Amino acid sequence: MAPRTFYIRTFGCQMNEHDSERLAGSLVADGLVATDDMETADVVVFNTCCIRENADNKFYGHLGNLKTLRESRPDMQIAVGGCLAQMDGEEIRRRAGHVDVVFGTHNLTRAPALLRQAAAAGPVVEILDEALPDEQAANGGQLVAALAAERDVPYSAWVNIQMGCDNSCAYCIVPAVRGGEVSRPMDELVAEVGSLAGRGVTEVTLLGQNVNSYGRDITRRRPLFADLLRQVGAVEGIRRVRFTSPHPKDLRPETIAAMAETEAVCNHLHLPLQSGSDAVLSAMRRGYSAERYLERLAAARAAIDDLAVTTDIIVGFPGETDEDFEQTLAVAAEAAYDSAYTFIFSPRPGTRAAAMEDRFVDAEVIAERFERLRVVVERTADHRHRARIGRVEEVMVEGPSKRDPAVATGRTSQNKLVHFVPPDGRLPAPGSYADVEVTGAARHHLTGRLLAVTSRPSHRVRIPVTAR
Ligand code: 5AD
Ligand code: SF4
Repeated sequence: MAPRTFYIRTFGCQMNEHDSERLAGSLVADGLVATDDMETADVVVFNTCCIRENADNKFYGHLGNLKTLRESRPDMQIAVGGCLAQMDGEEIRRRAGHVDVVFGTHNLTRAPALLRQAAAAGPVVEILDEALPDEQAANGGQLVAALAAERDVPYSAWVNIQMGCDNSCAYCIVPAVRGGEVSRPMDELVAEVGSLAGRGVTEVTLLGQNVNSYGRDITRRRPLFADLLRQVGAVEGIRRVRFTSPHPKDLRPETIAAMAETEAVCNHLHLPLQSGSDAVLSAMRRGYSAERYLERLAAARAAIDDLAVTTDIIVGFPGETDEDFEQTLAVAAEAAYDSAYTFIFSPRPGTRAAAMEDRFVDAEVIAERFERLRVVVERTADHRHRARIGRVEEVMVEGPSKRDPAVATGRTSQNKLVHFVPPDGRLPAPGSYADVEVTGAARHHLTGRLLAVTSRPSHRVRIPVTAR
């Protein structure tokens, strides 16, 4: 009998993408095979996000589309996991009775068992309120985060360094669905990166909700993130270390120094601003002022050569006045971002901000502010992208461009996407490093000319399995 196939569709952030890889890992370990064709897959898994309401709506739309398919194929199973599942639980089956399995953020690796249970005895919903002790559930004592992951992009891997979040930003649902901070032990992380490097991975991205408080739960003496950066950066074979996201209030001089002094750490900092108004930052409970944010950013720029800076900003937090918003524009201009993710405030059930209903900002006002912010960010982004023209950048090749297979794409250390056409028409293998001269700048990418392939990937990395 042919093995059952699975297809995972991921919504939301990199944390979720990585969870999907681990989910794929546990399904493969259970004998299933990945497919990138949702229509024919035996098991379709949605890994959901609940950070903003439109993520929910998008997901319910996709789920609805599967109803007919599910009815025409009695053997097919649909599973829904992740953040929205954690939050909505039973509600998911009420809204979509064709769903077979619902699981949350604390029992990812129970998915194969739950699928089997559903096949034998009908639909199951299993949501746990908190992580099983150290998330050691059902895995012979192995941390869920440490499970083998099926990776989408070979040569580049995500490593979860911490689960959950101890902050209480007023708008944010994450602590409610992911729980409090739990850091993975440093020796385990360094060993994991070593083993990835041994398999040919050269780039790792350290993931956490608040990476620079990493280790706060392990030792009270001081956070360990700077040490972790240095140790991971020293692992043989690792050429690039990235991380996301640090919290501005916890961005310590030690971290900046570790970034500056560790060659493998990329010169890119994603530093979420959220708002440039002190009144709004305080209502958000962010724990820093605009001035403090800019000071820390200035310190990072002074210490780290050629730093690219990106951010997250929320428009229309309850009570945000025109004046508050003007301050956000001013800080965004001063910070001179390379790019920014801008979000419209979305009330999330149960959060403090959702209860500030009497202070919600009018949708039209928000739309207008959002547009003005976009213009300000694009101005600095354009400027900074154009400033790259003429430079030779080291690019890690990711593969052919989705739009045009004759064009290669890759990323610079600053995390900028570069498109380039190899002169001989032969694309360097994914995972190669190449010197590319930047010849043009667009809003979201650079274009360039391939000068030389400086290193080719080792062939130890397994062919990737599609996990989306
Ligand atoms: N509404 C709008 N944006 C939000 N974010 C988190 N929660 C909300 C919300 N309720 C944004 C923040 C965060 C990013 C991942 O998503 O900017 O940094
Ligand atoms: Fe949410 Fe704030 Fe924690 Fe980030 S730091 S996950 S925004 S509560």
